[in-house]
Amino acid sequence: MSRPKNDTFLRALLKEPTDYTPLWLMRQAGRYLPEYCETRKRAGNFLNLCKSPTMACEVTLQPLARYDLDAAILFSDILTVPDAMGLGLYFAEGEGPRFERPLREEWAINNLTAPDPHEHLGYVMDAVSEIRRALDNSVPLIGFSGSPYTLACYMVEGQGSSDFRHIKGMMYGRPDLLHKILSVTADAVTAYLNAQIDSGAQAVMIFDTWGGSLSNAAYQEFSLAYMQRIVAGLKREKDGQRIPSIVFTKNGGLWLEKIAAIGCDAVGLDWTIDIGEARRRVGDKVALQGNLDPNVLFAPPEVVAAEAKKVLDSFGRGNTGHVFNLGHGISQFTPPDSVTALVEAVHGHSRMLRT
Ligand code: CP3
Repeated sequence: MSRPKNDTFLRALLKEPTDYTPLWLMRQAGRYLPEYCETRKRAGNFLNLCKSPTMACEVTLQPLARYDLDAAILFSDILTVPDAMGLGLYFAEGEGPRFERPLREEWAINNLTAPDPHEHLGYVMDAVSEIRRALDNSVPLIGFSGSPYTLACYMVEGQGSSDFRHIKGMMYGRPDLLHKILSVTADAVTAYLNAQIDSGAQAVMIFDTWGGSLSNAAYQEFSLAYMQRIVAGLKREKDGQRIPSIVFTKNGGLWLEKIAAIGCDAVGLDWTIDIGEARRRVGDKVALQGNLDPNVLFAPPEVVAAEAKKVLDSFGRGNTGHVFNLGHGISQFTPPDSVTALVEAVHGHSRMLRT
């Protein structure tokens, strides 16, 4: 199997030379696009959309039809894994994700097992294969999962949280129980990502949205250690092509060197850290992905362009090792034209930096 026609994203992750800086956007298929809202309406709700390979494929391709993006990301959600573990995921309209059966009791934790991804998450694997067929080798497809700690936050809290009192209570009071959850979840995520790779994902990303809420020591013990275990268990190659991995801890700037040392190919950055400084800190060890504040997209196009250039200039010259992205998911209120301005600025300015 050969690389996609536009393999700039894969080249940047592997620190091979590129003609320009590739970009994609976290949550690039989402509610800021009217065509996404249309499809979602047809699906009835968000979870139906995730569980229909044909509609998941349709929305995955929507941002690529509008914008000159350098990668597609599987349309799904990180919470499909705990759903497959039997926790009963649902989305209360306007309230975000919820679990019918939050994981708090010792007996339930002891009964937790890693689902077989082909058996229990077959709809995701079908979406991956369908998207690969539809992409027809134009740009690479990114597969993804949540980090064990981030998944555990939702599993234990039963929903999003502003203080994480249930999971942190467990972490300090019964660390053995949390380690048990994290261990089973790490096995589940490893199998899930490898199944996505088998089905056609050409790079994989681990989203650690909540690791950054932990203390220094707790981050390393309860989040990073499990991501390291996953990365060590990932298939590194498929059909002779290397499958790069990206690890993104939101608010993880403090641990940059440590994240870069777990064996991943790239580290995702939120907007709180200067990407030039991040580059100096990690040296040649990994590529970097990021890191524009998503709220820049609420400013006029010329400001969007100027802010994108600042990120590129800060990363500096050297024609490789940077994948441009936002520092977190794109807001549902983003004007779609802001993304047009962003894509033009990133491609245009990065080409200029290489001359
Ligand atoms: O990046 C992409 O385009 C791929 C799709 C993707 C979604 N969620 C689609 C989605 C990815 C990679 C995710 C990851 C995800 N899901 C994370 C980690 C990244 C992050 O954003 O921090 C988390 C924590 C979740 C859990 C989740 N899913 C929450 C908290 C919510 C509600 C938030 C909101 O914006 O309402 C979701 C729903 C969700 N996942 C939407 C999308 C497009 C919006 C759902 C809708 O259409 O109503």
